[in-house]
This record gives sequence, structure tokens and C-alpha cells, in this order.
Amino acid sequence: MRQVYVLSAAMTKYGKSPLSARELALEASKNAIDEAGIKVNDIQAGFIANAFSLSEKQGHLGPILMSGLGIPDIPASTIESACSSGASAIREAWVNIGAGIYDCMLVTGVEKVSQLDTITATTYFSFGSDYIFEGACGASFPGLYGAIARAHMTKYGTTEEQLASVAVKNHENAFYNPNAHFHKKITVDDVMNSVVVASPLKLYDACPFSDGAASAVLCSEDFLRKMTNGPSSKAIKILASGRAGGTGALHQRPDLTTLNAAVLAGKEAFKQASLSTKDIDFLEVHDCFTIAELVALEDLGFYPRGEAAKAEQEGQTKPSGETPVNPSGGLKAKGHPVGATGVGQIVEVFEQLNEMAGGRQVKDARRALTHNVGATGGSCAVHIFEKNN
Ligand SMILES: CC(C)(COP(=O)(O)OP(=O)(O)OC[C@H]1O[C@@H](n2cnc3c(N)ncnc32)[C@H](O)[C@@H]1OP(=O)(O)O)[C@@H](O)C(=O)NCCC(=O)NCCS
Repeated sequence: MRQVYVLSAAMTKYGKSPLSARELALEASKNAIDEAGIKVNDIQAGFIANAFSLSEKQGHLGPILMSGLGIPDIPASTIESACSSGASAIREAWVNIGAGIYDCMLVTGVEKVSQLDTITATTYFSFGSDYIFEGACGASFPGLYGAIARAHMTKYGTTEEQLASVAVKNHENAFYNPNAHFHKKITVDDVMNSVVVASPLKLYDACPFSDGAASAVLCSEDFLRKMTNGPSSKAIKILASGRAGGTGALHQRPDLTTLNAAVLAGKEAFKQASLSTKDIDFLEVHDCFTIAELVALEDLGFYPRGEAAKAEQEGQTKPSGETPVNPSGGLKAKGHPVGATGVGQIVEVFEQLNEMAGGRQVKDARRALTHNVGATGGSCAVHIFEKNN
């Protein structure tokens, strides 16, 4: 494999947007290309990460985006892997560049769901579960993660207040992220008093339905070297890309308190990079619900089983703590435009490693890990990045 770099990364604001998926994708892509300091014709191929564009009566987003950029001849196809579509698309570009097929690729993740009412959006999202056994029986994603939370509470004594502390921290971080869906600091009491969505999970334990897009330009070492001084100096190295699958449905698993896909993808990534948890300066993990952040930290080996909750409550996962987690605000408060999420995590890594993160900057960050989960763990991709200058 050749060394692969993230040359640039950019995103739209997440939240409820009047723009369509194609407009959001175009905005993020143009910004990433500008940030890279390349010409649009340098892009040789692309991947679009998206799950729900059919809700806008538009599939086949690849040619739509490339035509919008003025390069309709460039091959581009959609990667759909539910909520892990974004990191899966990054992974495929990494494989293509690493294998020497292309030198410069565009990866854009996008989602637009605010045109759907709550019930319709919840139903669309449930198509990412094992629909026959879960969605069709009435199990929404809040319901499925509610079951995971209940199992974790039963097995390890995790409390609702500890879950709430994850939301408080991520809302605090998002406050300093201009592109975040929410800019509202909250307290543990706010979370505890918010409406129950799927017991034990409440409104503030859940990520919102977000629109948004994120984009990254990936390139080879040869391409990077040919670039003039300037923008290329911000490029970050992809040290590892781990990917794994898990059962589509929860009832097929022996233990609900772990996502095996995340365990496997994390091990693969650490092995590829020849690193361990202590070498990582901060993480962006898939906190679609507060419980998911705790499970992620335990699955990736940052905390022993049952101990992440206490660490969260003690503030260890704040940007100034010993294990900063989701300085962007995470899915919980930065937002979760499904197809964009995995690429958006890399935007945060790019900004942090280039010391562009303002009030949420993690001091002296050199290495970061991203963890992007599809549905309740049917798929997972873990990437490790390193500062290059
Ligand atoms: C929790 C949930 C049902 C709330 O949706 P909703 O009832 O349609 O909420 P609305 O859009 O009507 O918003 C009502 C209020 O709550 C706020 N809100 C909505 N979702 C929120 C969330 N997740 N966290 C915090 N506040 C939220 C809105 O900003 C709005 O506030 P306002 O009245 O001050 O403007 C929805 O966000 C949800 O299902 N989230 C999970 C999505 C999901 O499953 N993703 C896949 C993960 S695997």
C-alpha cells in the first residue's frame, strides 16, 4: 500500500437546511477543493456517501455532483453503509489511492432529511436495521440503542446521570463549533428532565436529524510532493484504516453491551498503525446516542468494560482531559447527517491537527482516531490519522 493523505477537508453547517442534498454536496466539495489548493481537473475519481437521497427523489448522486463541479467525465459512485457510509467511502478511496489506481480523489458525504416529518424520518432510518426483525416490528433506532443502554446499565451499573454527562460534554464542545447543529449548553438536569424517547434514553441522549455535507480530498505521496508549498503543508497522514461487520439485528448477538464490528475494526486499525490507545491524542466516536459513546470507548480499548461512564462523569473525556472524545460536539450535538457523518469526523481531525479548532482545540494534538458505526453495529470503520508537519 502507498501512503495516503487527507489533503483538505471541509463541511457545510449541520442542522436544518433549505438546500437539497445535491446543493449541500456541491458546497462542501467546492470548499474542500479550494482548501486543497488544487484545480478541479486534478480530481480523478470520487465517492459519494449517502443513505437517503431517494427521499428527495434523487439517486445516483455521483454524476450529479461531478457535473455540478464541471467534471462530468470523472467516475463517481455512491457508497451506502447506513450511518458508516462516510468512513466506508473514505476507506474505499484509501484503497484506490493506496493501490496506485488514482492519485487524487474526492470523497463527499451528504444527507438531507429535514423535509421528512419525525415518523417518516424514523421509518426511513429503520431501513438501516434488520428491517424484518426490527424496523417492521416497531423497533426504531432510539429503541434499539435504548435496549443497548438498558443492557449496559444492568451489567455494569451504568446510571442515567452518567449517560447524561456525555450529552452535557458534547453540547459544551459543539458550542465552540460554528458548523454544529446545536449551540446550546445543557446540564445533567436538562437531560434528566427532557422527554423520554425510548427508555432509558431521553431527548438529550439522542442525536438529532440533521442535514449537511462534508468533503475530503485524498491523495498519494507522489501527488502531494508535486504540489507547490502552501496548502499541501496542512495535509494529514492516514496511518490506518480498519473495517469490520457485525450482525444486522440485535437478537443475533450474545452480548448487547459491545459492538463486535467496532472491536474488530479498532484492533485492525491499531495493528496496521503499530500503535496503541496511549498513542492517540483525541477521538471522534459515533455517539448517535449517549450510550454509544461509552460502548465505543470500551470497544476500542480506551477504558476497561464498565468503566467509561465513570471517566466521562469525572471529565476525563473533555478537550482538556486525558482522553478527549468528540471535541467537535459529536453526533449528539454537532449533528448526524447520516452520509456525511464519517467524513465530517475527518473534517474535525483535519482542523484539530492543523490547530484550526478555536475554542474546542485539543492542545498539542498529533494523532487522532475516528470511529464510525453503521446502524447498531452491522458495520464499522476506524481510521487513525497523524499530523504531517
Ligand atoms: C429524538 C427525536 C425523536 C426528536 O425529534 P423530533 O421530536 O422530531 O424533534 P423536533 O425536530 O420536533 O424538535 C423539537 C425540539 O427538540 C429539539 N431537538 C430535536 N432533536 C433533538 C436532539 N436529538 N437533541 C437535542 N434537542 C433536540 C429541537 O431543536 C426542537 O427544539 P426547539 O423547540 O427549541 O426548536 C429525533 O431527534 C431522533 O429520532 N433522533 C435520533 C435519530 C436517529 O435515530 N439517528 C440514527 C442513529 S443510529
